[in-house]
Amino acid sequence: MRIFNVKLLPSGVVFPAEEGRDLLRSARKAGVWLPFECGWGSCGSCKATVVEGEYAELFPNAPALRPRDRQRRRVITCQTMPLSDLVLEAPVLNGPPEDLQVREYVGVLVQNQLLAPEVHRLVFRVDPAVSFIPGQYAIFHLGGSLRRAYSMCSLPGSEVEFLVRRYEGGQGSQRMADLVPGERVCLELPYGRAYLRRTSRPIVMVAGGTGVAPILAMVRSWSTWKDPPALWVFYGARTPQDLVLLDELEKALEQGPARLVLAVNEPAETWRGETGFVSEAVARRLPLPWSHYEWYVAGPPAMVNAVRKILDAEGVPITQVHYDSFG
Ligand SMILES: Cc1cc2nc3c(=O)[nH]c(=O)nc-3n(C[C@H](O)[C@H](O)[C@H](O)COP(=O)(O)OP(=O)(O)OC[C@H]3O[C@@H](n4cnc5c(N)ncnc54)[C@H](O)[C@@H]3O)c2cc1C
Ligand code: FES
Repeated sequence: MRIFNVKLLPSGVVFPAEEGRDLLRSARKAGVWLPFECGWGSCGSCKATVVEGEYAELFPNAPALRPRDRQRRRVITCQTMPLSDLVLEAPVLNGPPEDLQVREYVGVLVQNQLLAPEVHRLVFRVDPAVSFIPGQYAIFHLGGSLRRAYSMCSLPGSEVEFLVRRYEGGQGSQRMADLVPGERVCLELPYGRAYLRRTSRPIVMVAGGTGVAPILAMVRSWSTWKDPPALWVFYGARTPQDLVLLDELEKALEQGPARLVLAVNEPAETWRGETGFVSEAVARRLPLPWSHYEWYVAGPPAMVNAVRKILDAEGVPITQVHYDSFG
């Protein structure tokens, strides 16, 4: 493994960076904190300009990278690895933001349980215990440059749980779903800002598919509050069978003033919930005005975009909408 020197301007700070590792992670390992937020390529807060040297992109389709960035040798440090010594224009932080105290852990898989066709619950033991705010996610390093984001569905502790949908042909999800008890993986956390905030406003949570993972973590946290505010949870999936972790969700919701609305696209004959997309169920069932609520949304990009669109149309301030789009 080749090691290169990365010099930052204007500070003059220098850190060593491994060839196969992203610059953000190498910097952190050396105690140097570069700006970041999502850690995987969507937000753009880690953009830096390469003044000298050669590099490779680990995620050429990263949503944060525009063609104009490439023309200007702008990179995202969370998805760029060095191929030579580098000089970068990038600010240096005094430390990580308070809500993103990211560190690396080794997780040992203790359970891989199939909950529905293609949906696995993975439980890892971590030492020391992980610390995060419910709603946040981890980045798993799955060998080579393969890495993927998965949201915690448990509360912080020494055992941490994830939900993984296996996609046909999906490199990361297949690697995750095939893990066997005793296997060790490297994970970094916590990332993401769609985490539960203390509020007196009524709360609405909307989950699509495995988007229920961060929503369940937040409901579990809400259920421990003294006098929690009213909570609506909308949970949608393709079929009733795909509505996994329903018992855990219902149990946590019993602890306070909550309503649960389920929606499926392909109902069975006995289905009593909503039929159609979960965004349509929100539109049908949730009383107006929607600007009254604090919103949390998680799941596939199409579902998150559909919900954001109807919230925008109803004039919900963006500061009250917290979302993780799984792609
Ligand atoms: C914030 C966040 C939280 C998520 N939480 C969950 C969860 O709790 N449960 C769950 O089942 N899924 C979750 N996902 C989706 C998950 O990370 C994978 O995108 C999904 O499992 C498909 O990956 P794949 O490797 O099977 O498919 P592939 O087709 O190989 O990859 C699909 C997606 O992976 C991402 N990707 C590709 N290359 C890279 C790269 N180099 N670095 C980072 N990302 C890359 C892209 O979004 C791409 O669209 C989450 C995604 C995000 C962004
Ligand atoms: S930290 Fe978000 S794109 Fe790099």
